[in-house]
Amino acid sequence: MELEYWENKHSEAFSDISKSLENINGIFVAYNSNIDAIKHIEKKDIAKLLKHVNLENVKHRSMSFPRVIKDPDDLLARLIIAMRDGKAAEVPTYSTDIHEWLTDHINFDNSYMGGQTGIISNFLANIGIKKVITYVPWLSKEQAEYFVNSGNLFYPIVENGKLVLKHPMDAYKSEYEPKVNWILEFSKGLDVEYDEEEFVVPRDNRLIISSRPIWLRIDMGKELYDHLPVLGKSVDGAVLSGYQMIKEEYDDGSTYLDYVTKSVKAIRKLKEGNPNIRIHVEFTSIQNKFIRERILKDIVRQEVHSLGLDTIEVANALNVLDYEELAYAVINKTEKGISALYEGAVRLLYELELDRVHVHALGYFICVVTKDHPVDTEEHRNALLFASTASAAKAKLGNIESIDDIKTGLETPISEDGHDHLKSLGKYLAREGICQSEDCEKGYVRTPEHDVIIIPTKVVDNPVATVGIGDVISAASFAAILAKMK
Ligand code: GLC
Repeated sequence: MELEYWENKHSEAFSDISKSLENINGIFVAYNSNIDAIKHIEKKDIAKLLKHVNLENVKHRSMSFPRVIKDPDDLLARLIIAMRDGKAAEVPTYSTDIHEWLTDHINFDNSYMGGQTGIISNFLANIGIKKVITYVPWLSKEQAEYFVNSGNLFYPIVENGKLVLKHPMDAYKSEYEPKVNWILEFSKGLDVEYDEEEFVVPRDNRLIISSRPIWLRIDMGKELYDHLPVLGKSVDGAVLSGYQMIKEEYDDGSTYLDYVTKSVKAIRKLKEGNPNIRIHVEFTSIQNKFIRERILKDIVRQEVHSLGLDTIEVANALNVLDYEELAYAVINKTEKGISALYEGAVRLLYELELDRVHVHALGYFICVVTKDHPVDTEEHRNALLFASTASAAKAKLGNIESIDDIKTGLETPISEDGHDHLKSLGKYLAREGICQSEDCEKGYVRTPEHDVIIIPTKVVDNPVATVGIGDVISAASFAAILAKMK
């Protein structure tokens, strides 16, 4: 009965939101696109890779948790950790050696559009948003080819002093090189033998080896930058990401401060042309704690409205905002898991002066919003439900090519586990005197300070791929919010 209620709500939300998307004039998406070289890791691949590393080193480094991949031993250490915990991770590498080493020993199965901006731009264009303007500072020919060939997808350039929108294939620079990331995917149930240890992978997930060539900059040319107000005026919202690539120091003497300042100014320029523009940042895995803190405190705080992140990213964010205990409770999934996640989301909402924080976990989403948000609570819930259906479709199909593809996600059942989490949160909020335990059952609770939306989601048993699901979730729900803005 309860699950049936949620099935019905998913269907209603899909019809409602899919009809409303035409209200959106346009969405701007920046900064990170790359090419994802995907390899599904099997038992034989692990055995093969382990033969070419120093096992003692790997063992040692799997305890010290390398935050940058400098050699194959670091790589194997991080892969073992990710497989053992079943957790998603992304680790940077600054040379092409690892790329070559992997190509020599295992080859990738497929290559796809990667990076938040690339994935989200294609997704939004495919579901028919009238105008999607995508921007990546390093648009090479190879990269441009991964954008969908669709009349509503544009790249901004300045010609004769005017902003012109062209398809990325008509806008790339032939002297640019592509950025290629390796995605090592592993499935739940994979039996891993390593040294004297043996374990079974607890969950489908992936390790991303993110290539960070020295020319990578989160930036834009002065001309385009000056035209951001015009661009901002032509869209309702912007989805920004890629800040994780900002470095503390660059070879040319510039520092993170230069890029943080430019990023903030870019947001202000967009707002200058359109004071009503809504800004969403997709937070990702940022290994460097100092940069993570700067991104949150200097770019996100005050400038941004909405933040999208997964459970681990919530813990990482809390950590640099000095909520270590809460971060610990979030990550270690004690019985306090769901209440810690909720409290963590609330802390982020206030500390970062946001008006919406959307956490996507396996089986459920939690979103906290300010009371004065221009979209009402039920619509917030519908936005999450629409995103849940989209995530199921993405997991099942691998790629969403139309709004009808999203509809196929409705066939995926709701996660019972996720539904149990919703009940636990209800009990916690009741204990705290915030609401009656059953109030959570409809998916939203209004507290005097903020509103809480929680829904159980649709989870595909054997996903075709896991990479990019979070991006689709955040983009789908943010687009739904834009569609409902008054
Ligand atoms: C990060 C990775 C990219 C991947 C994306 C998926 O941006 O760098 O390789 O496609 O996450 O969410």
